[in-house]
Amino acid sequence: MSTVIYPGSFDPFHLGHLDVVEQAVQLFGDVVVAVMHNPQKPSGQFTADERVDMITASVAKLPSVRVQAFSGLAIDAAEAVKASCIVKGLRTPADFEVEQQMAHTNYTVSGIRTVYVPCAPALGFISSRFIREISAHGGDVSSMVPSAVSKVLQAHHKRS
Ligand code: PNS
Repeated sequence: MSTVIYPGSFDPFHLGHLDVVEQAVQLFGDVVVAVMHNPQKPSGQFTADERVDMITASVAKLPSVRVQAFSGLAIDAAEAVKASCIVKGLRTPADFEVEQQMAHTNYTVSGIRTVYVPCAPALGFISSRFIREISAHGGDVSSMVPSAVSKVLQAHHKRS
């Protein structure tokens, strides 16, 4: 068994992400979910600390998972937690295109490997972007996110 790191923006964390975490626990043992910034995406709906709290509540039943926010590079976060590899979830061929380039780049500059975990087919359509969009208009996204995330989204949009 080893420690792996699962980096992402998780804005917000959804059931597809949770499925990848559960698979990574079964395959590797200890999993660090790393809340990071994706420079390709607008600054988040939730702060890094809010995302850490939502994910921590969502993985409460998985004792070998810890959740931490990191700034900077995923490879530096991987080194900081002594991860044996980076884990990424794949939903579609489009995900693979992006992830393959990142995996090769991260390997070239650091020597750390990336392992892809296929998301469960029934969850592969879920995206944080559409969850943000639907919940911002008061829509019900509870079938796509862990209950802890659903509660925070409801409270967030009642306030705004
Ligand atoms: O959930 P996302 O938005 O697809 O996650 C992408 C993320 C945050 C893992 C990626 O943007 C990332 O690794 N960001 C940290 C900065 C970094 O390491 N950049 C070099 C990529 S080769």
